[in-house]
Amino acid sequence: MATPNHSRISVVRGDITEQSVDAIVNAANSSLLGGGGVDGAIHRKGGKSILEECRQLRAGHYGKGLPVGNAVATTAGRLPARWVIHTVGPVYSPTQDQSALLSSCYGESLRVAHELGAESIAFPAISTGAYRWPVADAARIAAWAIHSAQLRVPEIRLVLFDDATFQAFHRAFNPT
Ligand code: APR
Repeated sequence: MATPNHSRISVVRGDITEQSVDAIVNAANSSLLGGGGVDGAIHRKGGKSILEECRQLRAGHYGKGLPVGNAVATTAGRLPARWVIHTVGPVYSPTQDQSALLSSCYGESLRVAHELGAESIAFPAISTGAYRWPVADAARIAAWAIHSAQLRVPEIRLVLFDDATFQAFHRAFNPT
């Protein structure tokens, strides 16, 4: 499916650490020092060079950690990619609308990928695991954010780990 910025978007079921793309997006936390879920898988399979670069970021520009909604790139280590783009999703809150921060994770990751000259990028379902964002709403926000992004990344892939999340994202990106 083409979008106004002429990116090709695909929604696939799979493991993001197995995607051969230029940039793999990590659902990180502000510490940038690893965690479970996608974060754990990326660091485990990508190897210690990713953590080393994350530590350098923490020692430098991101001394206080990566703010929610921001994105920063490191090496992809042993992953089949050139970069990992770490972004920090908001923790879901039923009382406080943080959709703009979740949308920013997609927009900022696309901006960083564009600046790197990445031709392809793979996103997980940011904030829908440990951060408990309802999947259908997260999918709606992801679709809106990616379609309204101004910057070209020719190939954009949403990579979903389980069937329910895949179905929700497929519906959001392919409205009938
Ligand atoms: N490939 C693709 N998607 C995956 C993979 C994988 N290998 N592993 C998990 N997922 C999916 C989860 O099933 C969920 O749908 O990624 C989505 C995001 O879940 P989390 O990884 O828990 O990310 P998030 O909800 O944003 O929470 C981030 O969790 O792992 C910690 O350090 C991380 O503190 C941060 C928090």
